[in-house]
Amino acid sequence: MNISIIGTGYVGLVSGVCLAAKGHNVSCVDNVASKVAAINNGKAPIHEEGLGAMLAETVGDRLHATEDLASAVLSSDLTFIAVGTPFDGTRIDLSYIEAVSRQIGQALRDKSSYHVVVVKSTVIPGTTDGLVRSILEQASGKSVGQEIGLGMNPEFLTEGQAVKDFMNPDRIVIGGVDGRTQDKLADVYAMFDQTETILTNNKTAEMIKYSSNALLATMISFSNEVASLCSALGGIDVVDVMKGVHASAYLTTRRDEAGPPVVAAISSFLGAGCGFGGSCLPKDVKALAAQGVELGLPMSMLNSVIEVNLGQPGRMIDLIKDHYPDIRGLRVAVLGLAFKPDTDDVRESPAFPVIRLLANQGATIVAYDPFAIANAKRALDSIDVQFAADLEEAVRSADVVMLITAWEEFKSLPRLLDSMTKQPLVVDGRRILNKGDVKRYVGIGL
Ligand code: UGA
Repeated sequence: MNISIIGTGYVGLVSGVCLAAKGHNVSCVDNVASKVAAINNGKAPIHEEGLGAMLAETVGDRLHATEDLASAVLSSDLTFIAVGTPFDGTRIDLSYIEAVSRQIGQALRDKSSYHVVVVKSTVIPGTTDGLVRSILEQASGKSVGQEIGLGMNPEFLTEGQAVKDFMNPDRIVIGGVDGRTQDKLADVYAMFDQTETILTNNKTAEMIKYSSNALLATMISFSNEVASLCSALGGIDVVDVMKGVHASAYLTTRRDEAGPPVVAAISSFLGAGCGFGGSCLPKDVKALAAQGVELGLPMSMLNSVIEVNLGQPGRMIDLIKDHYPDIRGLRVAVLGLAFKPDTDDVRESPAFPVIRLLANQGATIVAYDPFAIANAKRALDSIDVQFAADLEEAVRSADVVMLITAWEEFKSLPRLLDSMTKQPLVVDGRRILNKGDVKRYVGIGL
């Protein structure tokens, strides 16, 4: 099929490259000339495992990038909208969705054959059938359900393994205003015929995406609340508690006599720590809660999920204060700036609120991340932080070492500390170290 995709962020570009690899002809549209040029030169403007190689294989053949939205729409049968939907502090900002819907509608004025428009961006329930539909109809002079099909097809890509997730989907959610739209969209994914496919309306598709992320965030905040209670009670380690919780038959899905028990992947969201970040979980929970509040619902649970998460960086500081009531002048090594390991993405990273709290209380901060220092420098420009070139430089002569991101490299910390005379207090915000391996160890939920 001939497909156009508007937006070459990580959702748009990964989808475009993977759909081209699966045999579709794809035009990727972006209004940033440098991104378009990079893609056409076979260079991915974002870092995702496997993306570069797949782009190099498909570009110039089944994939190309362009700034010309109208011609990309006119030469395709189906257009995905994959532009950003940032949270502006109060509600989700739909201005990019509005702008591209209008441009797609204007282009469709000149198209005589049926065309399907599909929202892939994460948008609050009701957006596709409300805002997108009315702009498309008004700008095109045509009707959804007749000349235009309108669908909603959320993505479930995890950053760092987005290509793998796209090529091995756990589910395909196909929302559509009618059967004709759903059929056309189902054709896009025809090669994934073994994957569970959910055919539904657009609003439900939108809600499936939000509910999926809200559940993950809820599990993390649940674990963090239990962790706080464990710490307050004393004599309980949340890591041991969660081991016991994981062993439940609800989470350990199959006990095969020969092999070890198989733990459901969702158990990996029961890890207490310094909180969730990234471009999805924080924004999605806030946007969904805000929508509920606008509709007059209290949204007490999701608001608590956000509140617990906002409190975790402060808990990290409290752990230091139990040993050093006055933080002023302490040399604190902050290990990890990316919001999670194996990415250079620092968006909504818990490292920033931790660093801000430390800076406000007069600590000397040395930060280290194997991959994300350049991005963090941009985000932290007004805060006085020294950046270390490696792990050893960061922890050498530190009074306190704070572990924020669960990078594999940080597991070597006990060995590194063994070779040093001065032993810092290690505050494990991800509980990745064995508590017995470090002389002065404290952790969330311990
Ligand atoms: C998340 C979802 O996992 C994907 O399924 C979804 O498709 C994606 O959002 C999206 O909406 O696009 P992602 O944001 O890439 O993916 O990252 P996650 O691996 O879910 O991690 C999110 C945050 O939760 C990280 O800061 C991580 O450190 C934190 N986390 C995770 C915890 O604090 N505790 C845990 O036990 C697990």
